[in-house]
Amino acid sequence: MPPLFYWLNIYMKINFDINHFMVDYWQRQPLVIRQGIEPFPDLLSPEELAGLAMEEEVQSRIVTNHRGNWQAISGPFEQFEKLEQNASTLLVQATNHWHPNCSQLAELFHFIPNWRFDDVMVSYATEQGGVGPHIDQYGVFIIQGSGSRHWKVGACQPLCEFATGDGLKQCEEFKPVIDTVLNTGDILYIPPGCPHCGISLSPSMSYSVGFRAPDQRELFNAFADYLLDDEQNYSRYSDPELSNDHAWGEITRHQQQKLMGLMQNMVNDSRLMRDFFGRFFSATQRDINVLPLDEQSRINTTELISTLNHGISLHRVEGLKVLYLQGLNELFIDGESYPFSANAESYRLLANQMSLNLTHLSKAISDPEFTGLLTQWVNSGFWYWNE
Ligand code: SIN
Ligand code: CO
Repeated sequence: MPPLFYWLNIYMKINFDINHFMVDYWQRQPLVIRQGIEPFPDLLSPEELAGLAMEEEVQSRIVTNHRGNWQAISGPFEQFEKLEQNASTLLVQATNHWHPNCSQLAELFHFIPNWRFDDVMVSYATEQGGVGPHIDQYGVFIIQGSGSRHWKVGACQPLCEFATGDGLKQCEEFKPVIDTVLNTGDILYIPPGCPHCGISLSPSMSYSVGFRAPDQRELFNAFADYLLDDEQNYSRYSDPELSNDHAWGEITRHQQQKLMGLMQNMVNDSRLMRDFFGRFFSATQRDINVLPLDEQSRINTTELISTLNHGISLHRVEGLKVLYLQGLNELFIDGESYPFSANAESYRLLANQMSLNLTHLSKAISDPEFTGLLTQWVNSGFWYWNE
C-alpha cells in the first residue's frame, strides 16, 4: 500500500473567471491563464512522487529522450537513475487517489461535473525533459509547479500520429497557436484533440488535471461490455414475413432497416441507457485506496448515528466516484447501483460533497433505508471517519 500522508489542508484558490472560461474556452480553444491558481505551493516533492511510482497500485512511466532516442518504461520502479540525466520525465497517474494535496487540487476543479473527471497526473522532468509532441483524447489543465516549462500548443486538427519507443504515441510537427513558458501557478488549458509539446527548462513539476470525453467507439465498446454482464433477454431478429422470392446473396433495404431498428431500440431504451451511464461513469478506472473495515471494526446503524451525533464527519475515499442521474432515485458508486425511495437530497449530497457531517445528513438520519446503506458503505470503506 502506498505511504499514507497526513491531511495538511494547504491553501490555494482559483484565480480566474470561471464563467468566462466556460463560455469562451472550455472544449473550444487552448488558453494560458497566468497565475491561474494563487498561491500555488509545492504539492509534493519529486522524492514523494518517486515513492508513489514504486507502488504496485499506482500507474507510472519514465520517458526519456537520450541522444534523440525516445524510450518509455512502465512502473512500478525500484530505482530512478534515469532521472539523474537530462531529458527524462517521471509521470504518475491518479496522484489524487493517494496524496491529499493532489486531491485538494482536484477539488478546485469541481466546477466541471465529476463524471467528466479522470485524474490528477503529476510529472517531474529534468532539464529538456518532456514526452514529445502528441495529442490527448482528454481535455487537460496543466498547472506548472516548481521550475518552468516551454509549451507549444496547436489548434485542434487531424495530424499524423505514430508510435515511438515502447508505448509512446507522438504526432507530426504542428504550427503552434500558443508558444510560451509556464511558471509556477500558471495554467495551460488544452481541449481534447489539440496537439501539444512541453519541454522542461529546469527540473520541474507539472500537475495535469484531466477530463475524459468519450468518443462513440469508446461508448459502444463500454456498452457492449455492460451488455455482456447483463442477464436479461433481448429482442432477437425475426422475419416471419420472409418469402422465397429473394436474391440469395442480398440483404434487402427492408432487412437493413429492421436490423438498425433492433439496435436503435436499445439505444432509445432510456431505462437501460441510464443504468449503463451511471455504472460506466461511476466505475473507477484506476486503483483507489478503499480499505473495508475488518470484522472487529464494522459498525451498525446505531453506531453510525451516534458517531455522527458526536460531531465526527464522514469523508469519501479519494477518487471514489459517486454519481446520480437527474430524475432517477439511484446512487451509483464505483459501477454499482443503489436504488433509494426517499431523502433524495441527502443521497445527492453524498454525491456532490467529499465531506459530510450531521448537519448535512440531519433529515435522512431517521430513515432506516438511508442509515442502512450508509452503514454498509462505511463498512465497505467507501467513506471513513474524519476525526
Ligand atoms: C507532462 O506532464 O510531462 C505531460 C503532460 C501532457 O503533455 O499531457
Ligand atoms: Co498531453
